[in-house]
Amino acid sequence: MHMTNRELLEEAKKARLRSYAPYSKFQVGAALLTKEGKVYHGCNIENASYTPTNCAERTAFFKAISEGDMEFAKIAIVGGKEGTSADDLCAPCGVCRQVMMEFCDSEKFQIILSDGKDNMKVMSLKEIMPYGFSPSNLK
Ligand code: THU
Repeated sequence: MHMTNRELLEEAKKARLRSYAPYSKFQVGAALLTKEGKVYHGCNIENASYTPTNCAERTAFFKAISEGDMEFAKIAIVGGKEGTSADDLCAPCGVCRQVMMEFCDSEKFQIILSDGKDNMKVMSLKEIMPYGFSPSNLK
């Protein structure tokens, strides 16, 4: 199924509805599109012990990989405080960028964010993670 960036951002908003963030009250949703056109939703999942918290982006990646999907085209991410519509820019954290480096072609993989002004910010993984470390460094 073909997905526009706008549609993928709407999927990320749906994913955010499942956020479990009772501590930070910062709710994040991600929609990861595979090259075959399948969408995996992810939300952040917090923990009373704090450090086991998993970000929305990694939830989406780990769901996909655990189901055998490893070819990714793009990810849309939305985040904001509970009770807000999450239209302000929410960029992926460094740990999630590193996970993307493991599984994505950094020049081709696209990251789609809300820009806070009813528009979208679209960039490649390479743009958001310059001089990154990836499996190719170990070859
Ligand atoms: N969080 C994400 O899910 N993704 C990000 O890229 C930034 C941070 C989550 C982790 C935590 O549950 C909450 O947002 C506040 O840091």
